[in-house]
Formats: sequence, C-alpha cells, structure tokens
Amino acid sequence: MRPQKIAPSLLSADFANLQSEVLRVANAGADWLHVDVMDGHFVPNITIGPVVVQSLKKMSPLPLDVHLMIENPEFYVEAFCKAGADYLTFHIEATKDPQALIQKIKSFGAKVGITLRPRTAVEEILPWVSMVDLVLVMTVEPGFGGQSFMHDQVDKIQRLRQWIDQKQLPVLIEVDGGVNDQTVQFCQDCDVLVAGSFIFQRDAVSAIQALKKFSK
Ligand code: DX5
Ligand code: ZN
Repeated sequence: MRPQKIAPSLLSADFANLQSEVLRVANAGADWLHVDVMDGHFVPNITIGPVVVQSLKKMSPLPLDVHLMIENPEFYVEAFCKAGADYLTFHIEATKDPQALIQKIKSFGAKVGITLRPRTAVEEILPWVSMVDLVLVMTVEPGFGGQSFMHDQVDKIQRLRQWIDQKQLPVLIEVDGGVNDQTVQFCQDCDVLVAGSFIFQRDAVSAIQALKKFSK
C-alpha cells in the first residue's frame, strides 16, 4: 500500500459556483485540484483557459494539477504556468519535441507531467519519464467526464511502476478516468488518483474516504 493523493477533476463541478465547489472538495480532504483544459481540436470538447486557472489560483488552497488536452501545447504553456499551474501535463501525441516542451515548462517554474491516450503504447513515453515529475495514465478516452474505466490500461500502470521503481526515479504515477470506489482497487500502483464524477456528484467526504480506503 502506498499513500495516495486524491485530485478531484473540476470538469464535473458546478461551473457556476467554482469557488464553493473547490472549497467543498478541499474541506472534504482532497490533496490536489485537477483542471482539465480542452481546446476542441485535440479532443472534441472545450473547457477553460489560463484566465480561469488564474482565478482558481487566487482562491484554491490546493495545488493546481493542470491537464492540457490541446494541440500545440508549446504555444500555451507559458500562460498556464504564469496563471499558477503547479503541475502542467501535456499529451505526447500533441508535440513533435517533448524534450523542448519539458524544458520550457520547467523554465517557467512548474512541475512537468506527461500523458498518453489509451491507444498510445507506453513505449512512446518511456524515453521521457526520467525528465518529468509525473506520468499520467488515461483510463478513458480524453474529452469527457463520466466514462467507464478501461481495464486494459492497468497493464500500462504496472509497466510504469516497474520502470520507475527499477530506476528509482522520483516520478509520480497518476491515473485519470472512471476512477470510483469499485475501480480504485486496480489503481494501487498509482500515487495520485483523479476522480471527477465520483467525487463531485455525491457527498465529497464519503467519496474521498472511499478512494483513500485502499491507500496508506
Ligand atoms: C477526461 C478528463 C478527466 C475526467 C475524469 O478527459 O481528463 O479528468 O474529468 O472524470 P471521471 O472521473 O468522471 O471519469
Ligand atoms: Zn484529466
């Protein structure tokens, strides 16, 4: 068992009451706030940009874990870092030069995450794992909250766990998509659990407790 952080995904929050929603999950024991950024190109949905991240930063007691699901992330990482992203995660499919992008994010003072779509092989990201702070494994197709956990992605989590442990890398593994009180049992090799609909669409205290039951 490993201590796991819980990162509620704001995508399932009430966007008309963002401040009270953030405070609700913070008071319920959340560790980070997961912020999904979608551009309508990389994924078929549009969410928020740096302006909203900046407002969240002013009031959130939780670190901001920003998940970019956008094309040309190199054009936007400066704005998201300056807006207050603590972790900034990009998709390997969205960039031609991961190394330059990693360095760029670091140069603005944020921690760097790398992620991949479910159908992308884990080998695509292995060369970059030692350069980042976090690896995010998607267990749904990015774009929408409330989808079902893809069990065939658990193998990726295990492969990454072995890779990171063997090399003794200080890299966190995060899982995102369909995480709930049933599927959390398959995420025990992860350090950070993202959950949107499971936390925001019910009593957040009991939801977070249910997710933390397996860790410690
Ligand atoms: C999907 C997002 C997820 C999503 C998770 O593209 O990256 O963060 O909000 O939502 P649930 O937990 O409802 O699957
Ligand atoms: Zn996400």
